[in-house]
Amino acid sequence: MVTLPSPARTTRRSTAPDHGGDALEAGVVLSVEDVSIEYRTPGGAVRAVRNVSFVVRAGEAVALIGESGSGKTTLGLGLLRMLVRAARITSGRIRFRQTDGQVIDVARLTDRQLREFRWSQCSMVFQSAQNSLNPVLRVGDHFRDTAAAHGWKDTRAVNARSAELLKMVQLDADRVMHAYPHELSGGMRQRVSIAMSLLLEPALIILDEPTTALDILTQRAIIDVIRSLRERLSFTMLFISHDLSLAAELADHVATMYAGEVVEFAPVRESFYRPKHPYTVGLLNAVPPIAGEQFTPLTAIPGSTPDLLDLPPGCTFHPRCPYATEICHREIPPDFVVGPGHLAACFHHDRVSRQPVETGVSS
Ligand SMILES: Nc1ncnc2c1ncn2[C@@H]1O[C@H](COP(=O)(O)OP(=O)(O)OP(=O)(O)O)[C@@H](O)[C@H]1O
Ligand code: SF4
Ligand SMILES: [Mg+2]
Repeated sequence: MVTLPSPARTTRRSTAPDHGGDALEAGVVLSVEDVSIEYRTPGGAVRAVRNVSFVVRAGEAVALIGESGSGKTTLGLGLLRMLVRAARITSGRIRFRQTDGQVIDVARLTDRQLREFRWSQCSMVFQSAQNSLNPVLRVGDHFRDTAAAHGWKDTRAVNARSAELLKMVQLDADRVMHAYPHELSGGMRQRVSIAMSLLLEPALIILDEPTTALDILTQRAIIDVIRSLRERLSFTMLFISHDLSLAAELADHVATMYAGEVVEFAPVRESFYRPKHPYTVGLLNAVPPIAGEQFTPLTAIPGSTPDLLDLPPGCTFHPRCPYATEICHREIPPDFVVGPGHLAACFHHDRVSRQPVETGVSS
């Protein structure tokens, strides 16, 4: 591997939809435009998110999938400007259509506007959210404090709405409202976090790995809860997961992230049945199929994710890619339009299919 030499090397020539100046296309809630985020570390700048562009439309669920370290959480936190001090958004624009129809540029919000924006316009259920509730506050206090911080002081109305949401996530509201977090199981705390994210009816909800660290039956129950909530409340969602089978159940579109870049963006059926990026194929082959033959052997993607301080030249996936040719070693693939609403950053997208191909790459 060689050291990342120049900014030009890392800039993908995007054919992502151009939203034309300042106008935000009707129906778009979130527009992420060429966003890059880096962490300052003693070893150099870790480019955790690189030139990412995609949109989320009203009522849609977009899944952001990828292996550990691909930049999913960093992007999610960046959208809310909740990054740690060592991180900063180095380029791009994040535009958001609020519930009142006003379009805002998230980067330009003042601290006061940001506090208002979070929860009321865009809420996030954090990775390991079941551990993020304040241990000295009862569940009801969490709801009331969040509402009060946004000027909703009618405690009776807040209690009523909180109880309603807790029932929707299939919890015993009377008991849970008075409980401390430690009196609830991990799955129950996760349901509380999901219910809280809906309290102020935000335009967008970001769920970061909502089922990680839960047992398989609880995972199933949480997914069912999210699906039934969306049927009732039709909220717009960005669902972050490394698990494609979960994404398949909940998402309308799938964005595949690799080493900080979105390498494929497609309607969910296209992603699963006609993936055009070898990395998406690799992720699919690594999990049990969602339909059909249940005993298909699983195949791990050879190699490991690259060091973000020392990225391979050309296509960053080439050391692990069974389709790689000489051009992949030296040129960055642009986003190719490979179908309706389907983009894939792969020179050889026309050769890519779900059939696994022989690879000379050792794992
Ligand atoms: N505070 C930090 N300082 C330096 N680098 C960081 C920091 N947080 C994350 N990173 C790096 O940024 C990259 C992306 O991390 P991120 O947590 O966004 O990935 P992820 O896709 O959410 O992974 P996971 O599936 O494990 O949650 C990783 O390489 C990680 O090492
Ligand atoms: S551009 Fe080349 S290395 Fe990259 S995913 Fe496509 S075939 Fe593989
Ligand atoms: Mg994460």
